[in-house]
Amino acid sequence: MASLTITLNDGNKIPWLGFGTGTAFFGKDAEDATRMAIEHDLLHLDGAQLYKNEESLGAAIAASGKPRSSFYITTKLEKISLGRTVRDMLVTSLEKLRLGFVDLFLIHFPIEHEQPLSAIWKQFEDVQKEGLTRSIGVSNFRIQDFEAILDKANVIPAVNQIEYHPYVFNANQSVMKYMKEKNILPASYGGLSPVIRFRGGTLDPVLISVAGRVSKTAGQTVTEGQVLQLWLKAKQIPVITTTSKAERVQEYLAAEALPDLTLEEVSAIDEAGTKVHHRYFAKYWDNEGSAL
Ligand SMILES: NC(=O)c1ccc[n+]([C@@H]2O[C@H](COP(=O)([O-])OP(=O)(O)OC[C@H]3O[C@@H](n4cnc5c(N)ncnc54)[C@H](OP(=O)(O)O)[C@@H]3O)[C@@H](O)[C@H]2O)c1
Repeated sequence: MASLTITLNDGNKIPWLGFGTGTAFFGKDAEDATRMAIEHDLLHLDGAQLYKNEESLGAAIAASGKPRSSFYITTKLEKISLGRTVRDMLVTSLEKLRLGFVDLFLIHFPIEHEQPLSAIWKQFEDVQKEGLTRSIGVSNFRIQDFEAILDKANVIPAVNQIEYHPYVFNANQSVMKYMKEKNILPASYGGLSPVIRFRGGTLDPVLISVAGRVSKTAGQTVTEGQVLQLWLKAKQIPVITTTSKAERVQEYLAAEALPDLTLEEVSAIDEAGTKVHHRYFAKYWDNEGSAL
């Protein structure tokens, strides 16, 4: 069972480990996988309107019979057209999720909306005030995107959910510094990318060596994926991951109780990640491609 939480700038707590219904489940029914996560007591669930599977997330939550208060549920606003309101779109999500409120509502991307970001954010503040979401935040925001909303904002976003792993450590440094100054929590997706998407890089020997040291200290086998989770934990960054396999859910959950990385290990991973740049999602951050 996951128990570590991190406190947001609005006082609410976010569980450190979250289970996502995107990427592998994008556009697909995620009920079975979500049920499996819930059975393992992984109750921080990350959905999005764009994933087109909020009904299946809602079905898994309802089937569990667990009280609403045991869950932490996120959803995200997809591209908004001129004629829609944020409230309408959130209410539609809540109906699909069969919930009265979500814990966290995010602007999924800062680009490709037909309404200005500052007007969208104002509506986020309103739905939070109304109690339709506990916290409000953003995703895939760069400094210029924050600048577009913060001038007129009454509420500072609680979270920016971004691709975060050692191979974007260098490229993301300026936005991470900006967020730290404003007390906006980064949450990581794509955190396992160095072991599943960019194998054979400068990080591999460091991850193997750190996994060996932590395995010895813990008296059990520790995977390179768990080392990446521990790297994020050392930085107090929530991990949003996913899987279709029960063994992997157990592996993700087990990471929470493993010994912490040393400061030297964290620095060695930062350093090895800095040598190469690999971004898998939101290519517009590097001035390439669109949102997806
Ligand atoms: N805000 C955004 O724009 C955004 C973008 C992307 C993702 N997300 C969120 O973040 C969640 C996680 O996304 P992610 O895919 O980026 O997470 P990830 O943690 O980088 O990768 C998880 C994937 O890696 C596989 N995996 C895990 N360990 C592995 C290993 N040792 N060897 C091979 N494969 C392994 C899992 O597949 P198995 O089924 O084989 O275990 C799973 O499909 C999404 O579901 C979504 O909720 C948000």
